[in-house]
Amino acid sequence: MDPAGSPGRLRSATVVLGVAGGIAAYKAAELTRRLVEAGAHVCPVLTESAERFVGAATLSALASEPVRTSLFEEPEPIPHTSLGQRADLVIVAPATARVIAAYAAGLSSDLLVATLLATRAPVLVCPAMHTEMWEHPAVRENLATLRRRGVHVLEPDTGRLAGGDVGAGRLPDTARILEAAEAALAAEAGRRDLAGLRLLVTAGGTREPVDAVRYLSNRSSGKQGRAIALAAAERGAEVVLVSTVPAEPGPRLEVVPVETAEEMAAAVAARAAGADVVVMAAAVADFRPKAPAATKLKKRDGVPEIVLEPTPDILAGLGARKRPGQVLVGFAAETGDVVAEARRKLESKGADLLVGNDVSAHEVGFGWDTNAVTIVSRTAAVEVPLSSKREIAEAVLDAALAELRAARGGPPGPQGEPQT
Ligand code: CTP
Repeated sequence: MDPAGSPGRLRSATVVLGVAGGIAAYKAAELTRRLVEAGAHVCPVLTESAERFVGAATLSALASEPVRTSLFEEPEPIPHTSLGQRADLVIVAPATARVIAAYAAGLSSDLLVATLLATRAPVLVCPAMHTEMWEHPAVRENLATLRRRGVHVLEPDTGRLAGGDVGAGRLPDTARILEAAEAALAAEAGRRDLAGLRLLVTAGGTREPVDAVRYLSNRSSGKQGRAIALAAAERGAEVVLVSTVPAEPGPRLEVVPVETAEEMAAAVAARAAGADVVVMAAAVADFRPKAPAATKLKKRDGVPEIVLEPTPDILAGLGARKRPGQVLVGFAAETGDVVAEARRKLESKGADLLVGNDVSAHEVGFGWDTNAVTIVSRTAAVEVPLSSKREIAEAVLDAALAELRAARGGPPGPQGEPQT
């Protein structure tokens, strides 16, 4: 336990402490001292009006780094991005109605809000203001927006306010802010439950050339595969997304563009051995034209006879070469008995999980932003009702992680190292 009486996630955490211009700004000095005592590396950022309430020199003396106040007058050229990237946690205490509004609206009006917009670290906002402002619908709605985006909000206390009034809006005690900071860090660690794992995800329908301009494909939009890749990267995994549809790379997310089943098979084969989990969300064509024409087929030459040949079954190939402790996830877009078909494919392709969806249902599967699936394993079939593709992605990742833990007999470690 550290001096704050907490389990110590703040120890060696880099904390950006944003201080906005309210009377409670004077309490930032005590908070800074307690954060440093808890082992945190504290970088204070003051808004211009906060400087009227608390001396920058005081905070600089107590913190791990000097106070920063301006987007432009710092030695570093873009202080908000470096602060945002370095932070393990950003605390705004006190947070005024203005800073809350600017953060919710994405208005990077000063160094503090720019830092809030430039960070992927968890953020703890501690509002403090007069009761009338605290209860104003604008403030409530802005806070609801922030909460919806995953920002942690510590409700103010009721008590004596500036000017002698009594009501809700008082900045909570330093001990409660420290507790909330520990909780925000703990929640973040829980969200990173895929850290140390490598995921290979495929997305989109493959395109099989008929001639120089035409191809055979299917209705897959690649949205579900992309959602899985993105969610996995956000949960801490190193992800490679092999995709037939354009996708943005991101932190821990590499994108490998492909077009045909053969290109996808090659891209997957080159990376599958190092992957802890492979998710075949792509709609791989089962057949391709045997001899695609190198030039455009012309109408005047008559209706072409297109002879098809089977493509390699990527998932079945992976199933045949699967190493112990690796989890293979397949998808099956069906129009009939989804669970029976998913179960059949699970067995025939040697997968560990098969995610089946009924693409004849409304708002499910191809092109939609929503999906409804049944996740079939060897022992169970779990239905996930109509949800966003992001929520389906989280459910698929939860199921894959459970399989991985079962296969490895304990919490999963990186790259096939069974853990006990
Ligand atoms: N799959 C694959 N390679 C292929 C075809 C499919 O890896 N050539 C994968 C898909 O990515 C998906 C799973 O296998 O994860 C099931 O795909 P689906 O097209 O439903 O399987 P098929 O074997 O084609 O089944 P069927 O034609 O009997 O419906």
